[in-house]
Amino acid sequence: MCGIVGIVGSRPVAPLIVDALKRLEYRGYDSAGVATLEDGKLDRRRAEGKLVNLEERLKGNPLAGNIGIGHTRWATHGAPVEVNAHPHFSGNVAVVHNGIIENFRELRNELQSEGFEFTSQTDTEVIAHLVAKYLKTGATPVQAAHSSLKRLRGAFALAIMFASDEDLIVAGRNGPPLAIGHGEDEMYLGSDAVALAPFTNKITYLEDGDWATISKSEMQIFDLDGKHVDRAQQTSVGSALMVDKGNHRHFMIKEIYEQPEVIGHTLANYVDFNEDKIALRDMGNQENPLDFAKLDRLNITACGTAYLAGYVSKYWFERYARLPVDIDVASEFRYREVPMPQKGLSLFISQSGETADTLAGLKYCEEAGQHLAAIVNVRESTIARSSHSVFPTLAGPEIGVASTKAFTCQLSVLAALAVGAGVQRGHIDRETEIKLVSELSEAPRYANEVLKLENEIKELAHSLANKEHVLYLGRDTNYPLAMEGALKLKELSYIHAEAYAAGELKHGPIALIDEQMPVVVIAPYDRIFEKTVSNMQEVAARGGKIILITDKRGAEEVGMDEAQIILMPDMPEIITPIIYSLPIQILAYHTAVHMGTDVDQPRNLAKSVTVE
Ligand code: F6R
Repeated sequence: MCGIVGIVGSRPVAPLIVDALKRLEYRGYDSAGVATLEDGKLDRRRAEGKLVNLEERLKGNPLAGNIGIGHTRWATHGAPVEVNAHPHFSGNVAVVHNGIIENFRELRNELQSEGFEFTSQTDTEVIAHLVAKYLKTGATPVQAAHSSLKRLRGAFALAIMFASDEDLIVAGRNGPPLAIGHGEDEMYLGSDAVALAPFTNKITYLEDGDWATISKSEMQIFDLDGKHVDRAQQTSVGSALMVDKGNHRHFMIKEIYEQPEVIGHTLANYVDFNEDKIALRDMGNQENPLDFAKLDRLNITACGTAYLAGYVSKYWFERYARLPVDIDVASEFRYREVPMPQKGLSLFISQSGETADTLAGLKYCEEAGQHLAAIVNVRESTIARSSHSVFPTLAGPEIGVASTKAFTCQLSVLAALAVGAGVQRGHIDRETEIKLVSELSEAPRYANEVLKLENEIKELAHSLANKEHVLYLGRDTNYPLAMEGALKLKELSYIHAEAYAAGELKHGPIALIDEQMPVVVIAPYDRIFEKTVSNMQEVAARGGKIILITDKRGAEEVGMDEAQIILMPDMPEIITPIIYSLPIQILAYHTAVHMGTDVDQPRNLAKSVTVE
């Protein structure tokens, strides 16, 4: 979840490291730091909070040196204060680290009993002291790093620098990603290739259990036993352009507005609009193609918003392909000891492709001999590289921490997959396929139309601002969408929001309803609209303030003066989850803006969650 950078070169590296860290700020922004080495002396600057604070500090007090490491932090052990900011030092050793060292207590006790003094509450500091301990026994820097790595348990990526060697960084990976970049007389290390994009597109990814020595002219990779391993060099497609907000106030609203375009791009990858058919383009290992016809069940695993995209698709796969779906949040799935069917299909959904829990679920399914399929936004991510079938979303880089366009692109891929599965399994005939494809093709146009409702939704958002609680209700695919609405609102505005399947209301949550309770109901006119209306009546009868997101027919049928309505265009049923996502995103966005919270980087969150 933190971001790591290292550079060994022939020019001052501190400004380059800060530039690379800016591209990693999505991984955490609790504090940041840089350490460099010059004339045999390690020095560092660290600052609490966002990277701009570190930049200010470096302006007033620059760092010289042609070798350095940097870090942007999402706090796990220890508060987000300067003493806990990385790099951590122990004598002649500097360390930056991403992840969690599970046996840090045991190691800290050992090191403290040997006289090492700890100055932070982090687990990272044990690594610095451990390496320093081995150096004291006469080990070379590389030997000391190797011995230390062998003693660490947990999921981590790290970089170590030594005062005694101006041409060496040691990197290690066990879990979170690490990429080595190859330059001209300069080598780089980063948590992802995008961080290194301004310097190079020649990338070597470390695999789990790998560690590497990096100098300005070469790198060598080893396994934990110290044996050389070969890892192929790849050409990254990461953009060297720094993504900017254009004329939008926040990345989030920019990304909301990109949706008509990116949904269109994504659908075009999986739908042949000329032939009116689904053409599932699997970017994975073509030797082992995906065949929905042979399946008895589908298992879907993901976290957060990606999980909710999967949840929507459960309704689609079951309806259009008659394929039963088991869906789990990855943190539960990974430890539940789920019996997996012989040669089953396990689908993992992840914007970043690096989420630790999702990746652990994938490993479990790999061991159970499943066909692994991934829907990811970052094509070179670990989840993509570990899967047999890969279905990328074409959302482009998503910078706002709250997922918006990645979600609707995930839904777009899933809709195409569900219809494709229905065709392969013989539940969708040619005529229905043509109809569904034509309906999917209309999604970008409807998304565009709905964006025009922004001002109206903004006014409703002001009525939500400063409420203590908000309830979201929906049935069918609108139930997971209600959950997504509640998630967006709480993570952005810090208002407590909860979602219920509308029919569940009477089984308990209705006790919460009073005049203070806003209730957002997502209900396009469909077969079960009237059931949802009954639930809404129950809310209205108890004074609840209803915001209803529906279409013209729904608005006519509901006949409730007291409901405030976000009036959506009439649209085909299959695309409603994609298009109804937009008003719930805009509602959460404007509530948060009105309340003055940090929309793009809400408190306590990070974009890529590479710890459990
Ligand atoms: C919420 C949000 C998170 C992510 C979750 C999974 O707006 O963005 O809930 O969806 O952390 O992340 P990925 O998709 O990268 O696996």
